Amino acid sequence: MVKIAPSILAADFASLKEEIMSVEAAGADMIHVDVMDGHFVPNITIGPMVVEASRRSTALPLDVHLMIEQPDNFIPAFVQAGADIVTVHAEACPHLHRTLHVIKEQGAKAGVAINPHTPVDVLQHVLKDIDLVLLMTVNPGFGGQSFIRGVLEKITAVQTMAEEKNENIWIEVDGGIDDETALLCSRAGANLLVAGSYVFKHEVRADALRKLRGES
Ligand code: DX5
Ligand code: ZN
Repeated sequence: MVKIAPSILAADFASLKEEIMSVEAAGADMIHVDVMDGHFVPNITIGPMVVEASRRSTALPLDVHLMIEQPDNFIPAFVQAGADIVTVHAEACPHLHRTLHVIKEQGAKAGVAINPHTPVDVLQHVLKDIDLVLLMTVNPGFGGQSFIRGVLEKITAVQTMAEEKNENIWIEVDGGIDDETALLCSRAGANLLVAGSYVFKHEVRADALRKLRGES
């Protein structure tokens, strides 16, 4: 079944612990944490301190999405702060294979994210080194943007690539996920959905999660 990772980017940071606890109680499978550096993307968000505070707020896996340049310098701090999965952008990593092994050496699961315009071919030779592919369905940097439909064919392409190589990986989508786009993505082959605004704008978070899973 498809898993849901609410993105705390859309949470109320003045009540972060309660926000995380509310989505955990509603049935979230992971907590997605968006880290932005103001260089790779035109926005600045949070760092290891907030990951550490999130770690103390939930037992769920922390899925940390690094939208930063030179991630190798910061991976150990994020893993020590409690990240279970660390995802880096292929576009930010000239030595992607090395960076993925830095994540593994730290003891976390490794993911590779690609922007909407980046071809899936870049994943071909690292698929065996990773646990997760994150297909951006918006241009990274902000919550609340519109889903880019052209990415749907990339989801299926990654699923086919993984099947051909016999690799069991998470195919995660991130950006503009609501009850409609969630179903398009899961039908195309995604098995992990990130949703920020859609989950946190729902007063009853369990309703949002059910709808994202296509249950009602
Ligand atoms: C965008 C982030 C997303 C974002 C999703 O750069 O990577 O995780 O929080 O937000 P929504 O679901 O509001 O599009
Ligand atoms: Zn994200």
